[in-house]
Amino acid sequence: MSKENEKTVQVYEKNAGKYLKTSIEHDNLDPDKAKRKREKLEKFIKDNIEVLPKGAKILEIGSGDGSNAKYIESLGYDVTASDVAEDFLNAIKSKGLKTIKFNVLEDECEERYSAVLCWRVFVHFTKEDVYKVLQKVHDILEDGGIFIFNCINRETRDVDEEWVDFSNEYHMGVERYYKYFREEELNELIEKTGYKICNFHKEGGDNSNKWLVYVLKK
Ligand SMILES: C[S@@+](CC[C@H](N)C(=O)[O-])C[C@H]1O[C@@H](n2cnc3c(N)ncnc32)[C@H](O)[C@@H]1O
Repeated sequence: MSKENEKTVQVYEKNAGKYLKTSIEHDNLDPDKAKRKREKLEKFIKDNIEVLPKGAKILEIGSGDGSNAKYIESLGYDVTASDVAEDFLNAIKSKGLKTIKFNVLEDECEERYSAVLCWRVFVHFTKEDVYKVLQKVHDILEDGGIFIFNCINRETRDVDEEWVDFSNEYHMGVERYYKYFREEELNELIEKTGYKICNFHKEGGDNSNKWLVYVLKK
């Protein structure tokens, strides 16, 4: 686990409650936009996991408030939500979801899953962390399992990495570590780990290229 992620996890452990509050305030600034974003994400999740039989086991890493996991459950899957921060874990539990405390860079996972979702979490990983996570999830997945994640595209930023508390997003009053990746460097790590890329696109931001979105198959 990098010291960057370790410090960021500590920030979440202390401030997740604030994050939950400001994320609701943020979405309330433009509820229609928030709704469109939510619907788009849910369609993407559904389109990519519906190849799996109902009841298949799916793990979400870094679930935050648990909305994605709740949606996956509503589609008929056996979902486990996880996070590192107590306030997030309580928010997830309050949605009635199966919940575990899981730091993907530190903790072992005995269970095997048909799919893993890690949405807006790679932003807090160094390149070495990303390689570790790709390997860890590869071990967690059953053969043919699916790994869905996204990263912020370095091409849309001026720096490789920074400590920041974005004022126009889900801010917490404390800086977190953000790392931005180029498609080529991710593809190299993905190939090295042994996944096949089954789906890839860019989305978000002014030029629809803020996020690099991957669906990998073991
Ligand atoms: C920007 S939030 C995204 C939350 C949620 N996935 C979403 O899209 O709303 C980043 C999440 O990553 C989690 N996180 C950061 N480092 C982690 C680690 N090493 N293991 C597991 N979760 C981590 C944080 O606790 C937080 O919930």
